[in-house]
Amino acid sequence: MKSYISPVLTVLLLAGPALAASYQVSDSIVGPAFYDAFDFQAMADPTHGRVNYVDGSTAQNQNLTYAAGDTFILRADFTKTLDPAGPGRDSVRVKSRKAYTTHVAVFDVRHMPQGCGTWPAVWTTNEASWPNGGEIDILEGINDLTPNSLTLHTSPGCTMPAWRPETGTATQLDCNSAVNGNTGCGVMLNAEQSYGPGFNAAGGGWYAMERTPTFIKIWFWSRNDQSVPADVRNGNDNVNTDSWGTPSALFPNDSCDIQQHFNDHNIIINLTFCGDWAGSAYPPSCPSNCVDHVNNNPADFENAFFDFASLRVYE
Ligand SMILES: *[C@@H]1O[C@H](CO)[C@@H](O)[C@H](O)[C@H]1NC(C)=O
Ligand SMILES: *[C@@H]1O[C@H](CO)[C@@H](O)[C@H](O)[C@H]1NC(C)=O
Ligand SMILES: *[C@@H]1O[C@H](CO)[C@@H](O)[C@H](O)[C@H]1NC(C)=O
Repeated sequence: MKSYISPVLTVLLLAGPALAASYQVSDSIVGPAFYDAFDFQAMADPTHGRVNYVDGSTAQNQNLTYAAGDTFILRADFTKTLDPAGPGRDSVRVKSRKAYTTHVAVFDVRHMPQGCGTWPAVWTTNEASWPNGGEIDILEGINDLTPNSLTLHTSPGCTMPAWRPETGTATQLDCNSAVNGNTGCGVMLNAEQSYGPGFNAAGGGWYAMERTPTFIKIWFWSRNDQSVPADVRNGNDNVNTDSWGTPSALFPNDSCDIQQHFNDHNIIINLTFCGDWAGSAYPPSCPSNCVDHVNNNPADFENAFFDFASLRVYE
């Protein structure tokens, strides 16, 4: 597998040095600045989760979001037992006010939601034109199950080569949301620390995504990873992705016109429960069934929170 030199790799090796990979910070989002950069989306969950997305003032009144210093917390309620006939567990979904095309986004995350029934996601899309405008899932999973899967979802006509210079493991190769039950084209990370309890036990880490007209790359570094680039660790005003090494996932333009399949994207952070994915794949190792568990065991959701140290966007 490693000795196979694909055409993609050859092209990248030849073209690599000529590509500009230096970016300057355009949004440095730390602590309370998350409130200026994101809108709250008190909407119905399109994935049918056992969730009640609240608006911004409710979120702050109930301390479901909390910002101070270099901390931004986004969580679900962990105090209320729910009426099975009423709405789901209070939680938060936020969407960046700005939308981006060519850019680098670096998420410094100390903690991510964990617990049976949780379905957290950090992703980008253009909601008005899904799936034609594409979707990029950076950090997403269910029920504490590792590893994280980095995934694209598109309209028909976007596929990925099997062999790519990436450290993760490719799963489906067709990004088309209309096939394979909208599984998308994913790359599984090989580290236990990439998701859920393993991610949190290590103190979290960094997820970074680079999007250009000709490729999408995603990197993950765990908190104590020796290979985290200095510009990422230090939150520099300039980053050079050429020095970041082999990405966890590479989505090249060989058989997917990136510019055609991806338009301007907002960044979305959401935390839902059960629903189309976490509910249908609720594992036997978790208590009772997903919806009953979410309704009846609020204290089990005390660790269902994101703690962002920063989000920096470079253009
Ligand atoms: C949460 O994020 C995932 C990202 O993949 C998306 O598919 C899903 O629709 C979102 N769910 C909610 C409830 O917003
Ligand atoms: C709100 O949440 C933050 C972060 O978890 C915590 O430090 C703080 O004590 C909470 N405030 C209240 C009033 O519960
Ligand atoms: C992919 O991008 C490269 C530039 O990086 C370009 O030369 C090539 O034509 C593109 N391929 C396709 C199939 O669009």
